[in-house]
Amino acid sequence: RQNVRESLYIILNYAKNYYQHQLHNSEEGQAIGLSYFRERGFTNEIRKKFELGYSLDNWDSFSKEALEKGYSAEILEKAGLLIHKEGSHTAGYDRFRGRVIFPIHNIAGKTIAFGARILKSDKNQPKYLNSPETEVYHKSEVLYGIYQAKNAIRSLEHCYLVEGYTDVISLHQAGIENVVASSGTSLTVEQIRLIGRFTPNITILYDGDMAGIKAALRGLDLVLEEGLNVNVVLFPDNEDPDSYVRRVGAEAFKAHLKKASKDFITFKTEILLQDAGNDPFRLAAVIQEVVNSIVKIPDAIKRQVFFHRTSEMMRVDEQMLITEGNKLMRKQQ
Ligand code: CTP
Ligand code: MN
Ligand code: MN
Ligand code: MN
Ligand code: MN
Repeated sequence: RQNVRESLYIILNYAKNYYQHQLHNSEEGQAIGLSYFRERGFTNEIRKKFELGYSLDNWDSFSKEALEKGYSAEILEKAGLLIHKEGSHTAGYDRFRGRVIFPIHNIAGKTIAFGARILKSDKNQPKYLNSPETEVYHKSEVLYGIYQAKNAIRSLEHCYLVEGYTDVISLHQAGIENVVASSGTSLTVEQIRLIGRFTPNITILYDGDMAGIKAALRGLDLVLEEGLNVNVVLFPDNEDPDSYVRRVGAEAFKAHLKKASKDFITFKTEILLQDAGNDPFRLAAVIQEVVNSIVKIPDAIKRQVFFHRTSEMMRVDEQMLITEGNKLMRKQQ
């Protein structure tokens, strides 16, 4: 078992170097991959820092070379790099073809998986193709960028949480290094605990679309349950941190983070109130929802602070909120 893991780290490192080499040294990689990254504004330095690469657009150039180097088809398959069809007489074909490559690192900096993006949008193919679960890659426990961000998170005592690979990279390039991505929209408890090893303070920067807002609301409760402090920054409709920072620049981006950052009560209340209008029943439901979140906070003093805040925001009696909260907490036990 230990041996398999070690072999996986070695082949994944080999693959990472291979994709990096193709990006910078092959004609196809330069013409397609490198120009793609340049168009997105990624500098040489940032490409190196994140070890970005390119996989050639054919069936087996990676696995052919790896097999020649002596790696077995079995280990290539276990690493998620080779797809072998049961009963087929050939070795199989490369999982990643004709895509730019984002290596995913563990906290120690070892490559454990890849995310791979197509260059032109194509309805028949997913935008990102990711490594499958392997013995060294458990998606739900991994945060993209944690290796590059951990020192900054610790020293700034704060972590930004974004959705995507390119958000992490663009923010680094803008000088914001305490940032990691959940790589998609369903944040897990394991991911939150990983952040919690470095700081109790999280700000969620999800995409400014319905999916991003819904994911932020779900993420909030999870983060609260883990006893961490959470704020949210919303971006204009259809923008994400990457597109926004490229449009407005690093300074304006940082100013937006300061100005638009909301504590979870304010965020949640504002979002829910938007569709409640003046209907008293729906207003009551909003209050109930907010109380639902507050009772997830393990710390009694923090709960008290947020009950107080909610009573002011919603102009309702604080003692009534506390009583409702206590009822909910008894039910949960
Ligand atoms: N994602 C994925 N598979 C997909 C779509 C998305 O794994 N088919 C993950 C990726 O980690 C991606 C993140 O979800 O980075 C956020 O998705 P999205 O906002 O659609 O992509 P962006 O990161 O904004 O990528 P880009 O700017 O290149 O379009
Ligand atoms: Mn999105
Ligand atoms: Mn994007
Ligand atoms: Mn996005
Ligand atoms: Mn009070």
